[in-house]
Amino acid sequence: MKEIKQMKDLVVGVIGLNFGAYHLKSVIADGATVGAICDKNEKVLKKVGDECNIPEDKRVTDWHDILNNKDINAVIVVTPDMVHREMVVALLDAGKNVLCEKPLALEKCDIDAIVQAVERNPQCKFMVGQICRFTPAFVKAKELVDTGRIGELYFVESEYAHDYQHMFEGGEYNWRIDPKRHGVIGGGCHAVDLLRWIVNEDPCEVYAYGTHKLLLMLPYDDATISIMKFPKSNVMGKVFVSTGCKRNYTMRTCLYGTKGTLIFDNTSPGMQFFEADEQGHGANDCKTIEIDIANHNTDYEFKKFADAIINNKVVEMNVFEGAKTVAACMAIVESSVTGKIVNPNYDFG
Ligand SMILES: NC(=O)c1ccc[n+]([C@@H]2O[C@H](COP(=O)([O-])OP(=O)(O)OC[C@H]3O[C@@H](n4cnc5c(N)ncnc54)[C@H](O)[C@@H]3O)[C@@H](O)[C@H]2O)c1
Repeated sequence: MKEIKQMKDLVVGVIGLNFGAYHLKSVIADGATVGAICDKNEKVLKKVGDECNIPEDKRVTDWHDILNNKDINAVIVVTPDMVHREMVVALLDAGKNVLCEKPLALEKCDIDAIVQAVERNPQCKFMVGQICRFTPAFVKAKELVDTGRIGELYFVESEYAHDYQHMFEGGEYNWRIDPKRHGVIGGGCHAVDLLRWIVNEDPCEVYAYGTHKLLLMLPYDDATISIMKFPKSNVMGKVFVSTGCKRNYTMRTCLYGTKGTLIFDNTSPGMQFFEADEQGHGANDCKTIEIDIANHNTDYEFKKFADAIINNKVVEMNVFEGAKTVAACMAIVESSVTGKIVNPNYDFG
């Protein structure tokens, strides 16, 4: 395969063009070369192909045409969660660099198969698209925590509030109705991943319970609350997930530290920063830190992926990070069903 020295040497395939259209626009905006785009739905393929001026000969409905295209050296997999394993394993084994959307997979056997494929192809970069790690408010919060601005963390909470109701209207089958695609794994993985990243530790035990009052067509709860323990840093965590909530999509997050508190989300332009005074008294007034929500997160995500390939850098959002986030989410689901405390299983491969 040709050496990849600069952005335009990256020849990218994008599979799945609904959310994948955002990825495709980032590929184009960042100056990489579009090798081919793929969607099995011809209408979606035409719509996104026309919108992004992709030539007809670079539009395919069968993802194997991307797999077998020797010019393509990087692929972004944006297909339903249950299809990730099949594509990722084959693409890595074909020597492609791969960026796969979150959640990595929905079942332990699929996660293990992807981990094995990453390990047997060390020449390929593999990244999981846990986009919170590239979201301006969350990147800023991580920086403030890591530089000690709010002292030592003792409590962190986040939520994934996203009304999915429209996805189940109109009579067409939606893959999110699959019993394995519990909202905590499919969407709640964002909030769980965010807390794991900010605390820089994996929760050792979780306890959760759920309710089911909104999306009655789903075979699982549509609202779940979980608490978790981060043992080494002695931090308590809480994650609320609602996939039927009657409000705008957001991920409200609060980080409590010994010297201050941060309150923010991914959809507002301001982050609230309460800083204790020199005597350690909590502030009544907050400082507002401006956040550039216009910055598109897939742009930053793709830049990081490209940088790892071009400059042979370590991928921070690697397969184990993606796997551990799903493992913690699976433990939350299990706890909400059994009513017992569950220790996530972080053994993979
Ligand atoms: N990071 C985020 O914020 C974010 C947001 C939305 C979705 N996602 C993730 O992105 C992925 C896709 O989600 P979506 O909302 O775009 O789903 P979607 O169902 O709306 O779109 C998926 C597209 O993939 C196509 N497709 C399915 N199987 C295919 C196959 N075998 N070959 C070619 N094309 C195929 C479908 O035709 C469809 O157009 C999921 O893993 C989801 O969890 C992430």
